[in-house]
Amino acid sequence: MKLKGRTALITGASNGIGNAIARRLAADGANIAVVDLVDAESAAAELAKSGVRAIGIRADVSSETDTAAAVERCVAELGGVDILVNNAAMTAPPRPFEEIPIADWRRMLETNIIGPNLLCRAVSPHMRKKKYGRIINVASDTVHLGVPYMLHYVSSKGALIAFTRALAREFGKDGVNVNAIAPGFTLSDRLANQPERVAGFRKANLNQLAIQRDEIPDDLAGIASFLASEDCAFMTGQTIVVDGGYAMV
Ligand SMILES: NC(=O)c1ccc[n+]([C@@H]2O[C@H](COP(=O)([O-])OP(=O)(O)OC[C@H]3O[C@@H](n4cnc5c(N)ncnc54)[C@H](O)[C@@H]3O)[C@@H](O)[C@H]2O)c1
Repeated sequence: MKLKGRTALITGASNGIGNAIARRLAADGANIAVVDLVDAESAAAELAKSGVRAIGIRADVSSETDTAAAVERCVAELGGVDILVNNAAMTAPPRPFEEIPIADWRRMLETNIIGPNLLCRAVSPHMRKKKYGRIINVASDTVHLGVPYMLHYVSSKGALIAFTRALAREFGKDGVNVNAIAPGFTLSDRLANQPERVAGFRKANLNQLAIQRDEIPDDLAGIASFLASEDCAFMTGQTIVVDGGYAMV
């Protein structure tokens, strides 16, 4: 129970990787605020069965009003915010970069990079006052691999890695550590439920892995648990690639 007494706000925690991280941090004893566009209350109700306090907050991470209100609710109802996991993100079907509408670029950046910025701003006064915080940004190994045909997505995740490094320096003096996780292609429910659509990509991906099996959301839980804990007291600004040994950076 290394996170007992801590509170974690996790975006996109109703499904997939965010939900796996939420389940693990709850198992470690943290109270959880599930922030999601959908199913936040039902996901929180499931987490509460493990004995922690959990609340569901319906919010869009790209909205300044929603993110500020989400953090205020977390503080009011769970007593604070010690851990922020910026996991919610948009993805998009593959297409050549000349065909990606500029409106899609704007939406991608609003969700995947401005969203984490809004949440970091909203938690900042609480973490700085307490002189303690753990911020975990969920990036992607596509940045290291230079994966083509999703230029707005890969660019947004590259920006998130740069954001992690620069923000770590601003927060370092206040005990707030900022790190990132870069997953590989992960069979979250969203992808597992479209076997035909992902079959080709999944096979090509598997061929490149040192560990020859599909990555699943629970594969990201252990590193999130470490980054959320006091064990990573002297580690900040880092990006940990968890992808079965595809991108070895
Ligand atoms: N699955 C993969 O292959 C993979 C690979 C590398 C990185 N990632 C990253 O991991 C994270 C989670 O991916 P996943 O596959 O588990 O996704 P998912 O689609 O299974 O779940 C994402 C969750 O985020 C929520 N969400 C989306 N937009 C939101 C918004 N604007 N505001 C609030 N909530 C929002 C969704 O409702 C959903 O519950 C993302 O940052 C993604 O880019 C995923």
